[in-house]
Amino acid sequence: MIISACSDYRAVAQRTLPPFLFHYIDGGAYAEHTLRRNVADLADVALRQRVLRDMSELSLRTQVLGEELAMPVALAPVGLTGMYARRGEVQAARAAAQHGVPFTLSTVSVCPLEEVAPAIDRPMWFQLYVLKDRGFMKNALERARAAGVSTLVFTVDMPVPGARYRDAHSGMSGPNAPFRRLLQAVTHPRWAWDVGLRGKPHDLGNISTYRGHPTGLADYIGWLGANFDPSIGWKDLEWIREFWDGPMIIKGILDAQDARDAVSFGANGIVVSNHGGRQLDGVPSTARALPAIADAVKGELAILADSGVRNGLDVVRMIALGADCVMLGRAFVYALAAAGGAGVSHLLELIEKEMRVAMVLTGARTISEISRDSLVQADPG
Ligand code: GLV
Repeated sequence: MIISACSDYRAVAQRTLPPFLFHYIDGGAYAEHTLRRNVADLADVALRQRVLRDMSELSLRTQVLGEELAMPVALAPVGLTGMYARRGEVQAARAAAQHGVPFTLSTVSVCPLEEVAPAIDRPMWFQLYVLKDRGFMKNALERARAAGVSTLVFTVDMPVPGARYRDAHSGMSGPNAPFRRLLQAVTHPRWAWDVGLRGKPHDLGNISTYRGHPTGLADYIGWLGANFDPSIGWKDLEWIREFWDGPMIIKGILDAQDARDAVSFGANGIVVSNHGGRQLDGVPSTARALPAIADAVKGELAILADSGVRNGLDVVRMIALGADCVMLGRAFVYALAAAGGAGVSHLLELIEKEMRVAMVLTGARTISEISRDSLVQADPG
């Protein structure tokens, strides 16, 4: 299949992956209304075409939390990325580093911090959940610092995992799940050979390193439910500061008041996100939530945004709505599953090209020139 658009990678990923893995990444919570709205609302954001403005000089470079980025894009933390390609976190991190953008390692990655960090020549970002085992969190922060992680991304919108019906149907969880997964693996030989056999060990690498024995992935969804801490409040985040003095981004903000609270807490950044529609179905899309949040806190901390971004035009739209940087989740995992690190690298090239076209035709020579003025404003009447 010829890959000429970011969306082509999803089709290849669907053919390549055992269904339990495809649906885990592709799916969302409940009836998936928010998942669909993330994509549809962003596509509805109309760009304002401008012409004849001498757009020969263009720069996509930007700075986020003191780091130079070749374009305002970062790879989002995605659990189990190492199940989508052999040692997938390492492959994705290398592709991101080659393109001058940050890779964020998830707490629940397959490859541990100590495997990914030495494989790349730029500091990575590390995502941490609020887990019941504070000993693990402290240990993870110390190891992140030792691995040269530059920025901590603290996920706060998962005190409980959202109900994802597809996981129960696909064999990710539910009755006879291990048997069903095995059956799916043998009927997807390319994945079975490349990842199933040669991509081992398959476990939660960061957790196994802490515990000193393999965690396994037999009941991953059950593990998430049992280990997240729903009692968390802003005051509980303060102790993190004792173990982490670098930049800290709070991920999972969808409300302007919560964004103001993040400023009061002293966060260096936020990710405006509904977790890709994977948590509370029915909440607004990021494209709808972002403008009010930007009005409330723009300039006081870095504003990142994710959920629904599938191509370079979407990146430009998010920036026009108020983001300083945009995170890609599903988009890069589809590319990784379809073509490994080369797929992620190609995806980032496509995104850069699409951003260039959008910037030339909206008259923005630099990232800071992309603003609400780059959008066709809705008719007030
Ligand atoms: C984990 O963060 C997930 O969305 O599955």
